[in-house]
Amino acid sequence: MATSKFKRMLNRELSHFAESSKSGNQISEYICNTFLDRQQEIDLPVTKNDESDISTIQNKKEKKKSTPMSQITGVRKLRHTNSFTGNMPKYGVETAHEMELAKILCDIDRWGVDMFKISELSGKRPLTAVTYQIFKERDLLKTFKIPPNTLVTYLMHLEDHYRDVPYHNRMHAADVTQSTHVLLSVPALENVFTDLEILAAIFSCAIHDVDHPGLTNQFLINTSSELALMYNDDSVLENHHLAVAFKLLQEENCDIFTNLSNKQRQTLRRMVIDMVLATDMSKHMSLLADLKTMVETKKVAGSGVLLLDNYTDRIQVLQNMVHCSDLSNPTKPLDIYCEWTRRIMEEFFKQGDIERERGLEISPMCDRHNSTIERTQVGFIDFIVHPLWETWADLVHPDAQDILDTLEDNRDWYQTMIPVTPSGSFTDSKNNTPLDGETTPNEETKFQFDLTTDDDNASKDRGPDGSMKSSIVDESEPNI
Ligand code: CMP
Ligand code: MG
Ligand code: ZN
Repeated sequence: MATSKFKRMLNRELSHFAESSKSGNQISEYICNTFLDRQQEIDLPVTKNDESDISTIQNKKEKKKSTPMSQITGVRKLRHTNSFTGNMPKYGVETAHEMELAKILCDIDRWGVDMFKISELSGKRPLTAVTYQIFKERDLLKTFKIPPNTLVTYLMHLEDHYRDVPYHNRMHAADVTQSTHVLLSVPALENVFTDLEILAAIFSCAIHDVDHPGLTNQFLINTSSELALMYNDDSVLENHHLAVAFKLLQEENCDIFTNLSNKQRQTLRRMVIDMVLATDMSKHMSLLADLKTMVETKKVAGSGVLLLDNYTDRIQVLQNMVHCSDLSNPTKPLDIYCEWTRRIMEEFFKQGDIERERGLEISPMCDRHNSTIERTQVGFIDFIVHPLWETWADLVHPDAQDILDTLEDNRDWYQTMIPVTPSGSFTDSKNNTPLDGETTPNEETKFQFDLTTDDDNASKDRGPDGSMKSSIVDESEPNI
């Protein structure tokens, strides 16, 4: 399958990168652990930490109070039943800054709106304010007969179930929702999706990280957490986000889908499950492989809009759209991107602190005393974000060109920010200590990871910069 070829190619590229330097190895491990679903497929140099035994970790684990298996953890009672009957604030949130909020919400159709500002202006309810506004603009309340106070009651309840963690909080959920709202509106997708599909996509984004504990799937699995047990180590967080969000619909005055037909409810639930499960980053390579294949065989109508004539193709585009939005920080204005980076790194470091405290192996990128933030971002863009966005931009050409340009500018900015010692070698950004075997800035060439499904050519057709330049369609195997 094209997916496994992609994975083998990424492995091969990451092995080269890992061998190039100490920080390269750490970044490779992070990318492999997060974005590939089989850790054992990786050819990374063996370190002594790799030999650590999970059973030791389990032995050291603190005894926790267990909850019954049938119970969805983290679900709390509604705090504000019917709080807005008859007296609903215009933007769904109580705020002393309604005028300023109104002004910034005028930009809701634009890429790069400042979600941190929206959070301040909405009384820390960015998810409710943004999602309610999008539902209104898209006429979803009328189309699906959703009572406004039910929508706001549900959104507030959902928002309350996002935790106060540095990154995976209500601002991130609002950001992904707003990004998808923009991506849905590009000319290449005009009138492509039904109202039900649009409803499903916006809802999926709003719920996609609810009750995220600020810890990774791998951490939850390695520590035999209740959640990992509940979902048999498979897309642990993503299954949990879905279960919590659907459970919350059952609270009083929270069922925003009550006026949908049974058939609509079933279809919507299927689509939402498919989209949120696809936000599991270990599915990244198969999603991208499918998207790449779709771009190669792209069908457009006379008017230039995409032709998607079956469920598989339609859901695939929606899954990739949500995935692109989830990986859109590096495509936003630089100051906003930097704030997201600060937050994701802080969340990773907090996990590293817990691992250190419990005597566990510290996960890649999670050690606050040994980090190279700028280099991580360059690697993250080169190996993951750019290949995805480049393919998305091909799909909707030329509608995402500005986004791609910003991504490339931001990548170059982070590249220039990689700290350098007087001798010319790169440093650990925190401690300013040289990293063994780092290449100098002049040796550092812009890395382009061009994906192809043609595995045989992968090693032959390298460009002078080491990137792979071969063509796309895999003729030896059926298309996926
Ligand atoms: P999540 O939001 O669940 O899904 C996308 C994942 O990509 C996110 O969790 C992080 O694990 C990772 N990610 C997103 N942005 C960055 C970034 N700027 N740097 C490193 N990892 C990131
Ligand atoms: Mg997630
Ligand atoms: Zn997310």
